[in-house]
Amino acid sequence: MAHKSQAPGSKTPVQKPEFSVNGLFITFEGTEGSGKSTQIKILAQRLRQAGHEVITLREPGGTPIGEEIRHTLKHSAVNHAMTDVAELLLMNAARAQLVREVIRPALAVGKVVLCDRFYDSTTAYQGYGRQLNLTMVKSVIDVAVEDTRPHLTLLLLVSADVSEERRATRQANLPFIRDRIEEADRPFFDRVANGYRQIAAMEPNRVVELAGSGSTTEVAEAIWEAIRVRLSNAVPGGILNLKAKADHD
Ligand code: TMP
Repeated sequence: MAHKSQAPGSKTPVQKPEFSVNGLFITFEGTEGSGKSTQIKILAQRLRQAGHEVITLREPGGTPIGEEIRHTLKHSAVNHAMTDVAELLLMNAARAQLVREVIRPALAVGKVVLCDRFYDSTTAYQGYGRQLNLTMVKSVIDVAVEDTRPHLTLLLLVSADVSEERRATRQANLPFIRDRIEEADRPFFDRVANGYRQIAAMEPNRVVELAGSGSTTEVAEAIWEAIRVRLSNAVPGGILNLKAKADHD
């Protein structure tokens, strides 16, 4: 949202840039095996080279409390009986902690926050995937995040076959760790992918959908371009030049 404020000594409201110079919040979303974590590393490095202070986070997790909740959600030996509503609330308990303990303080001091999943995952997985009531899901998300919303969301989608193949390869290369959410069936993941498409269609200004099936370099370039195009007009000098501009002021 653009904010209106009064220029000093003037009665004419002036338009402030859409994105506060105090920090930038970018989230990554997608189905399993879409390459999000690799792309977050690449983008973080690129932004640091451009002079930004960057933190990378993951959801559920990112705080000591959140990581314990993550374990309960995914790997705990006693999590088989978890209900869908308990899953929804635990995801958002971890998120409420992350927002207040890490994300808001980081944005307040001008950092770039890159988060591997955020509330669109809840809409896609608990809303569309588990088929919980979407209005109820939205209410829970609103409590967790209040006005802390991503400026930009990069949605990486790969086909269900590629996703399954990448998941299998990952499992084969690591000591097996059971993951309760990955135990869901194919129709669940199809609903999740469809949910993401609905989110992208509803919020085209915030959510940029990119094909995750290209090479790592191709996807990284598409992400960089999306950031440049979407955010370069948001602040004078462009977001990617923010640090340089601040240094000259
Ligand atoms: P990942 O970190 O390997 O992506 O694992 C996180 C899992 O949690 C993934 O299967 C998606 C799921 N998830 C939800 O179901 N809802 C949420 O709100 C979030 C953040 C993640």
